[in-house]
Amino acid sequence: MKRVFSDLFKTDGPLVALSPMAGFSCVTYRRICHENGCDFSPTELTSARSVVMNGVSKSFRFMNIDPEGEGVTCIQLFGNTPSDFSEAIKIICEDERLSRVDVFDINMGCPVQKVVKTGAGSALIKTPLLAARIVSESRKTAESYGKFLTVKTRTGFSFDDDSGPEFASMLADSGAQAVCVHGRTASQMYSGKADWEKIRKMRERITDPDVYFWGNGDVTGPSSARKMIEVTGADGIMVGRSACGNPWIFRSIKEAFQNRNVNITSVETDCVTLSEKCDMLMNELDGRIGEVGERIAVCEMRSVMPHYIKGIPGASVMKAALCRASTRMEVRQILDNCLKEEDGRC
Ligand SMILES: Cc1cc2nc3c(=O)[nH]c(=O)nc-3n(C[C@H](O)[C@H](O)[C@H](O)COP(=O)(O)O)c2cc1C
Repeated sequence: MKRVFSDLFKTDGPLVALSPMAGFSCVTYRRICHENGCDFSPTELTSARSVVMNGVSKSFRFMNIDPEGEGVTCIQLFGNTPSDFSEAIKIICEDERLSRVDVFDINMGCPVQKVVKTGAGSALIKTPLLAARIVSESRKTAESYGKFLTVKTRTGFSFDDDSGPEFASMLADSGAQAVCVHGRTASQMYSGKADWEKIRKMRERITDPDVYFWGNGDVTGPSSARKMIEVTGADGIMVGRSACGNPWIFRSIKEAFQNRNVNITSVETDCVTLSEKCDMLMNELDGRIGEVGERIAVCEMRSVMPHYIKGIPGASVMKAALCRASTRMEVRQILDNCLKEEDGRC
């Protein structure tokens, strides 16, 4: 029997995913997001070449999965050579810690110069024949292990690039079982507004109903999530930056999707208390300490912690203090002081 991507999920309605983000999408945070309603969360990008050259150990941390904790699992790979992807998929599927992965996602959207100059990431938008071979060969290998193959890309490479719809159609024809489109071109990086109209045009060119389509870019809560689906015709949405330090966003979007008549403004309202934010921050920190130890976890959390406290009174002073912290205890003290001040204000 033919298996399609959406069969992996038990949910009705649009799926809500955490967009892969280097530095944020660690296994701990993906688990937290899943506990808060997120359906799917690929790992951050890992080099297929590195897996081929060094085995899984060197990049294990970035590919680490937790099928019990995060639901459907997905490892994202980047590269420029079809055989690297096939070989990397084979190596991962034969590693006992990673063999339960459900999906491989190919990155065709990364705009970072270090990646683009090798012909990988978003550079593949400019070489559609190579991109097609990467998809078809990877799909063949993934399928031989019972895994799915998906692609994440952008609306084009440069500002005036109108190849997006053709590229989307090629991805589906070459064997991608789901396609995610971020509504910016590579030259835009992360600036400007995501162009949902361009996403719609790419969506329209994927006519096979078995190929799942994710819309991505500038979804910030329930109303923009609904709008993304309405405007683009996407099957599901991926949330990137608005989910940093904000795992609660998934539940509110899911509720809005499930409850068609719900008053959007009521679920949009930020009803998470400061104490809940502090608890969640510590929860993520503790999970990361379990992954990489206290020193590295606290250091890596310096770019994550400001997202948890965004918008609270005194956030900038607190952010500066958190960014200097080097132990779990220091972080806890900074949060406790803030909670004490908050109590004083009440
Ligand atoms: C810090 C950061 C790291 C990212 N890393 C990845 C990555 O590893 N793989 C990927 O496909 N996209 C990556 N992205 C892009 C996001 O997945 C997403 O497509 C983009 O942020 C647009 O969604 P948003 O407007 O909801 O943030 C990254 C984005 C950011 C901000």
